[in-house]
Amino acid sequence: MNTNRVTIFDTTLRDGEQSPGASMNKEEKIRIARILEEMRVDVIEAGFPIASQGDFEAVEAVAREIKESIVCGLARAAKGDIDRCAEAVRPAKRGRIHTFISTSPLHMKYKLQMAPEAVYQAVIDSVTRARKHTDDVEWSAEDGSRTEHDFLCRCVEAAINAGARTINIPDTVGYTVPDEYNALIKMLFNRVPNIDQAIISVHCHNDLGLAVANSLAAVQAGARQVECTINGLGERAGNAALEEIVMALRTRKDHMPFDTGINTELITRASHLVSTVTGFPVQPNKAIVGANAFAHESGIHQDGVLKHAETYEIMTPESVGLRKSNLVMGKHSGRHAFRAKLKDLGYELGDNAINDAFKRFKDLADKKKEIFDDDIVALVDDAVIRENDRIKFVSLEIVAGTKIAKQRAEIELEIDGVVKSTVAIGDGPVDALFNAIKQLTTDTQRLQLYQVHAVTGGTDAQAEVTVRLEENGKTVMGQGADTDTLVASARAYINALNKLLVKRQKAAPAPLPASA
Ligand code: KIV
Ligand code: ZN
Repeated sequence: MNTNRVTIFDTTLRDGEQSPGASMNKEEKIRIARILEEMRVDVIEAGFPIASQGDFEAVEAVAREIKESIVCGLARAAKGDIDRCAEAVRPAKRGRIHTFISTSPLHMKYKLQMAPEAVYQAVIDSVTRARKHTDDVEWSAEDGSRTEHDFLCRCVEAAINAGARTINIPDTVGYTVPDEYNALIKMLFNRVPNIDQAIISVHCHNDLGLAVANSLAAVQAGARQVECTINGLGERAGNAALEEIVMALRTRKDHMPFDTGINTELITRASHLVSTVTGFPVQPNKAIVGANAFAHESGIHQDGVLKHAETYEIMTPESVGLRKSNLVMGKHSGRHAFRAKLKDLGYELGDNAINDAFKRFKDLADKKKEIFDDDIVALVDDAVIRENDRIKFVSLEIVAGTKIAKQRAEIELEIDGVVKSTVAIGDGPVDALFNAIKQLTTDTQRLQLYQVHAVTGGTDAQAEVTVRLEENGKTVMGQGADTDTLVASARAYINALNKLLVKRQKAAPAPLPASA
């Protein structure tokens, strides 16, 4: 057994989905799970099956679809949670139940309102129950980094005795710092007598911007599973970013001699897909996957890179799957060439998705002389993600400019298969457009954010628009891309509305029972 192998546990579909506004439907989860599997992620945490019927179905669908990675579901320390989770992961070739309970004084007293001994018993009961369903059980000490050491050691020992094969020590609130967390993991190795019977896992949140540093410090102390998410998506400030963990281990192998099984060349594609599905843009200066991560602006840097890339590049753009944005095709390129290009970019699409993407490619080629790889990726992700939407964009006409008092938008949408149109006015073209969409759909949502950026350079570049909508305290993000900024805005708003429809359908989570 390779003792330097670090298991990569991706929780984009569970903790990532808990980011306000990042909810995903079943099809979207399957699509992301497929690329995670292709990247050779070891464990995919697909959701929290008890949370709603939709979550249950999504975990079950991922469990059916994925053959190589372990598919995991989350469950609180409660019989109902554990049994429901077991049912959802049952179709998996390799399924895991991940059960957790808080162990810190603060959480036990105020959140759980349980005495430590009752929590201790719940650890044993929950792991024992999960083991009746599967051999692969992970137990997490929620708020582990703020738990008293004696109590943490007792709970970890009990969970292993009850049959947990992975023990996770989360830094739930992103509070720890690298040397403290490293010492905590070492303390467990020194004090828990049966620790050699489990893999120690870490799960770090990024509230102080230390999630990746803390995770790596824990690996150096002996942890051999890291829980992380694509683009660092997750509750509040997010989780440790998968791409940063994996590339740090790969790039600094001299200092950290550990392996992951990840195919790093799929990182850029996975990042883009997660951003499109969730509507969460990636900040330009984000490590590894930001648009500027491999860009050299200053003359001195450009000169250095041209002479010898390693002067300013510690890893190659190709190692994360970033290609030079090639000039690919134009309006004369046919369906066959388009299909070949998609294959080259790593897309395996069904006929409907290819037809839709090809139509949009042709429309784009009519408007834009040069089409780059990035344009194709933007339009294909957009087309694929919208395949199952209930509300679809059909057409838009805008009357704008300084010669009229109010701007005017005439829009056609297909709603549940029926094409409807309307006209609305507003203070500016975007306001008129959004008013028109609201007339045809619903008016209970509030626009919280509207943001535009260009996919490539040049004035004919596609605009990528992000919107955030809020309704009854719940938020959703939407994205849309087009050479026409107003069409991109319509697509983004409609994308967010489709997510809101899914969110409205989701039932509220069941109340938390005291213990298993
Ligand atoms: O942050 C956390 O503690 C969690 C657990 C459920 C693992 O997400
Ligand atoms: Zn978490």
